[in-house]
Order: sequence, then structure tokens, then C-alpha cells
Amino acid sequence: MGNNLIKRSVSAAAIIIASLAYEYTGHAQQPSAQNTRKNDAVIQLGARLFQDERFSTPKGDLPASCSHCHMFDESGQGIRARADFLNRSWVSYRAQDPRREELRNSPTLLDVSQMPRLHYDGEFGSLEELVKGTLSGRTMGWLPGEEQDAFDRIQRVILTDKSPEGSYRDQFKRAYGISVDTISRADLIETVAKAISDFTRTLNSNRATPYDKFLEANGLESEPRRSESPAEYAGRLITRIAALEAAGKIRLTAGFDAAALSGFKIFLSSNASAHSGNCASCHAPPLFTDFSFHNTGVSQSEYESVHGEGSFALLKIPNAGEAARPSQRFRETPSARNTGCADLGYWNFVDLKSSPLRRAGETDDHFLERMIGTFKTPTLRNLAYTNPYMHNGGFASLEDALEELARLAAQAREGLIRSADPELVGIRISQEDIAPLTAFLNTLNQDLRKN
Ligand code: HEC
Ligand code: HEC
Repeated sequence: MGNNLIKRSVSAAAIIIASLAYEYTGHAQQPSAQNTRKNDAVIQLGARLFQDERFSTPKGDLPASCSHCHMFDESGQGIRARADFLNRSWVSYRAQDPRREELRNSPTLLDVSQMPRLHYDGEFGSLEELVKGTLSGRTMGWLPGEEQDAFDRIQRVILTDKSPEGSYRDQFKRAYGISVDTISRADLIETVAKAISDFTRTLNSNRATPYDKFLEANGLESEPRRSESPAEYAGRLITRIAALEAAGKIRLTAGFDAAALSGFKIFLSSNASAHSGNCASCHAPPLFTDFSFHNTGVSQSEYESVHGEGSFALLKIPNAGEAARPSQRFRETPSARNTGCADLGYWNFVDLKSSPLRRAGETDDHFLERMIGTFKTPTLRNLAYTNPYMHNGGFASLEDALEELARLAAQAREGLIRSADPELVGIRISQEDIAPLTAFLNTLNQDLRKN
């Protein structure tokens, strides 16, 4: 852990130079010629704000900026896809809230611009909202009730900033044509949120992985057709691959070998037989997420590792009428000290009335119960640079994560997972499927330096 802490404080300058070299080659929307310079100024400003640790609280023991937990090039420590190395990110210690660990593992930021809701528990509906909440929240060391202090501090830093490469005053002028001295604090904070969000939107994965090249070489479509469900698309791919194999025409490509192909078939298969992963019904290509929320039992498993097998079923969780959501108690890491605390994920934030996940005719109580322990499906691209895995960072390797999924699916088939997702029981994999599945997942890594 101590080592990781040192890694966190690597030179911010090195990060920014590396990130700019990378971001400019990302899949940012192509700006028109006359907008290019303005766009560059926005991204430069956003990138600088992203790594400015002066915005974090001076009252804690650990400075923080977005780039401390969403790293890129750790000068010799390895590339990160805008994630960190920890199980759960570290936050500044505050006497009133004595904790070192965040609630969750830091996910990649690549492709977040595509996500309708952000955070594992869907807390935020837009990047701008997330950035404002983060800059004034526990992640940056602030306590509830200190939001105004956080915004005051941001304003002060921006107004007094001097830098040989140009002050924030100059940068805001160039990027947005505004004068930071005359706009209100509220407008300034909105603009800061916009700049960081615009920068974050340039962080995208590319389509140059061994997987993408395999699809291309075999003439396989890279995404579902309009109105085709992920499961139908997966079924179509399986049929097509089988036909190519039967005709002796399947082409293995660099980085996509026979083991990866066999893993891909397990990944796509959902036919209730052995070696059927049912993975694509939630991890839908091309981004390997359906952007939705599912209970795969990971939270229950962590709860029971503390309180004993079968304990999660006994945890009293209020129904829709009684529940005050979000709930501090149900957005907490389980521990022996805090009995009754659990991480129920999206249960805390789902909008009972407007959520598209609600089934026709379903009662509030039934719907909310189904949301217990649901988390956003993570992308499976670039997992080489985001370990450890799952919302709690509880799994050091892909093998560990997959073994856990296999175990949880078997438990779900026995009815032992509370509010299990209906698709969880469809994961029918055993020990011998782990290696090919891992080989397949490894084909989803791009060369982040080259992009
Ligand atoms: C102390 C570490 C830390 C800092 C500092 C931090 N983050 Fe995060 N970030 C996390 C963690 C942990 C999560 C997962 C939170 C969750 O799901 O509950 C996260 C989630 C996110 C997500 C959502 C990703 C997704 O797939 O839903 C975005 C976007 C994001 N952070 C951007 C930022 C930005 C921008 C900043 C700076 C303003 C920032 N973060 C600062 C740790 C951090
Ligand atoms: C019911 C939907 C569903 C199915 C089916 C499913 N997953 Fe997932 N997967 C998720 C969700 C949701 C998470 C996040 C869970 C958490 O963090 O608590 C996840 C997490 C993961 C992770 C960890 C990723 C990370 O960044 O931490 C991997 C790897 C993974 N799944 C691979 C697979 C594979 C391989 C299969 C098929 C054998 C599969 N999943 C089937 C929904 C699903």
C-alpha cells in the first residue's frame, strides 16, 4: 500500500505531457478547421484542471486530483487506462470521517462519454454533475457540508494562478472567451466542470485491438444491427463463426489465437449447456457493456465474507415506501464494526418512476427489491490496465474474477443469491473455461501508448 501511495504522487507534469500526447490521437470528434484552436485550448485547460491537486482540501493528509486516481502513464510503474492500482482508491484522512479507503475501485475513464449514468451505482446522470460532485466531495477530501469551501477554494486557485505556460486567467479566456475576474463563482464552477468533462470526453478506446482486427479479417460485424438485441447479435456471430470453421475459412490473426477463439465462443454462447458464458447479454460488444445495472452477487459475497454465509438474506432492507435513498448505511463497505452496513449499489439511486428497467405492471416494492446489489456493467476493453477488478477491487486477476462469477452463478442456480439478475444463472462455466475466456479478454487490450 505504501508503495502505491508513492506512485500516486508521481510528477503531475509527466502525466500531463503523456496524456496530451495520447489524447490528441484519441477518437475525439473531428472539429472543423476554424474550431480546432479553440478546441485545443479547451482540452488543454481541461487536462490541466484534471491534474491540479490544489483543488483538494488543505485539511486532509493526502492531496488529490482526478489524475491521482485516474492515472495514465506512471513513469515506469506501468500504463493505466485512467484507473489506479488500489483495490479501493485512497482518500484524505479526516478526523470527523476517519477512513482511508473510498467505497469503490477506480474504473477506467475510457468511453465514459457513452454512458448514460456514471459511477457503479449510477449516482450521476452527466459528467458535469459528476465533476461538480467530485470536486466538492469526499474523493477530494471534503466532508459533507464543505461544498461551499471547496468551490471557494477552486475560485481562489484560479484567480491567483500563475504559470510560465500561461495562467488559468489566460487559458479560460482562450478556451471559452470568458474573464474569470468578472463572472460569478457559480458560473466559474460550471465552466470548470465543462472543461474537465470536455477533456474526459476525449478519453476513448480505439478499434485497433487484436479482437477488432480478428472481426475485420473474418468479415464479422462489429456491433448489433439496429433493433437487434445483444443476445441476437451474439447468436448471429456464433452461427457465422461456425460456418466459417466448417468451411475451413476462419482466420486467426496476430494476438487472436485458437484459445482466444474458443474463449470468444464461450463468451457469446447462451444456450444453457456447459461452456456457455452468456457474457454478451450483459457485456454487449462493441464496448462490452450494456450500460445497465445487474446484481451478479459480488456485494452479497463481500458481505458474507464478513458476516458469514447466508447472512445477506437476513439483512433487513426497507421497502420502497420506507426507504430513505440514497442511504449511508447501504452505501458502505461491510465490516465487523459496522453491522448492518452493505453496498446495495444502484438500489440507492434508481428512479422508481422513470427507470427503463422497470417492468410493466411491477410494483415499487418489487422493482426496488430487484435493484438490491446491482452495479453498472463495466466495459471489458483494456482490462490489462485496470486491475484489480469488480466494484470493490476484490479480485487481483481476471482468473480470480471469473472464478468468482462462476461460483456466484452456481449459487444463483440454487437460489442462494438474493435478488440475483435473471441472466446470472445463464453463466455456465467451469474451471476449464477460465483460461480460454481469459485469453479472449486479453484480445480486448489496445496499445494505449500508440492508440
Ligand atoms: C480519490 C480517488 C479519486 C479521485 C480524486 C477522482 N476519482 Fe473518479 N472515480 C474514483 C472511483 C473510486 C470511482 C468509482 C466510484 C463509484 O462507482 O462509486 C470513480 C468514478 C469516476 C467516473 C465514473 C466512471 C464510470 O464508469 O461510471 C468518472 C467519469 C470519474 N470518476 C471522473 C473523475 C474526475 C473528472 C475527477 C476529478 C474531478 C475524479 N474522477 C477524481 C476515484 C477517484
Ligand atoms: C448479468 C449480467 C452479467 C453477465 C451475464 C456477466 N457479467 Fe461480467 N459483470 C457484470 C457486472 C454488473 C459486473 C460488475 C460487478 C461488480 O463490480 O460488482 C461485471 C464484472 C465483470 C468483470 C470485472 C470487470 C472490471 O473492470 O472490474 C469481468 C472481467 C467480467 N464481468 C467478465 C464477464 C464474463 C467473462 C462473463 C461471462 C462468463 C460475464 N462477465 C457475465 C455483469 C455481467
